[in-house]
Amino acid sequence: MAQTHFGYETVDESEKARRVRGVFDSVASRYDLMNDLLSMGMHRAWKAYTVAVANVKSGDRVLDIAGGTGDLARAFARKVGESGTVVHTDINEAMLRTGRDRLLDEGMVLPTTTCDAEHLPFATGSFDLVTVAFGLRNMTHKDAALREMCRVLRDGGRLMVLEFSKVAAPLAKPYDWYSFNVMPKIGRFVAGDEDSYRYLAESIRMHPDQQTLKAMMKEAGFGHVDVHNMSAGVVALHVGIKC
Ligand SMILES: C[S@@+](CC[C@H](N)C(=O)[O-])C[C@H]1O[C@@H](n2cnc3c(N)ncnc32)[C@H](O)[C@@H]1O
Repeated sequence: MAQTHFGYETVDESEKARRVRGVFDSVASRYDLMNDLLSMGMHRAWKAYTVAVANVKSGDRVLDIAGGTGDLARAFARKVGESGTVVHTDINEAMLRTGRDRLLDEGMVLPTTTCDAEHLPFATGSFDLVTVAFGLRNMTHKDAALREMCRVLRDGGRLMVLEFSKVAAPLAKPYDWYSFNVMPKIGRFVAGDEDSYRYLAESIRMHPDQQTLKAMMKEAGFGHVDVHNMSAGVVALHVGIKC
């Protein structure tokens, strides 16, 4: 069997999917709290920027992949209105259920489905916008997932990938110290799970940097790709146009 990375470990491809599932099964109930704590609330600004750049209109059809607890799906649903559609998806039932319940508590009912980004159950050309926030990093075959995201977009449609990326050199040391010393400890005390947050730190380092991901998106079929660095490259938003 082919091998891949799970954080810094080399594992069989089937083992990676199983272990990623374990991470998100474990963190689902504390996911939102941990996001706020670990990013010091910054994830809200990164997502708000993504929604602003997307500039969706009433009636647009949006697919949120790896949507987890639903931050982006909720923001887009408010923008596309009654005539639009936002489909909230994730491979992990625990994450999706947590998100669906949260949206229902806010009076929002969205089409929600469990699916693997590498095999999307949607017809070619179905969406105006596809988004994936902090999800691509966890996928085993990122190239296959990007090709699927391209396939389900209409011609001229856009893919927005919000993901951790390569931080600017002067920040690398303090960022490493925070990631490997502080994050796993917060994970242990707040979520009772140190290993999942060590995986988070390692998976960020193993993820393609800004230019590599841009090249991968072009290879997957996006004719034009823009990169927006945020927080000195801690996070980058890649916007690809199917053209
Ligand atoms: C860090 S969470 C991000 C959740 C949400 N998008 C956010 O920004 O808060 C990553 C999500 O990716 C999902 N995921 C991992 N591999 C996936 C795959 N192959 N297809 C779809 N979702 C996947 C996980 O289940 C998890 O919910």
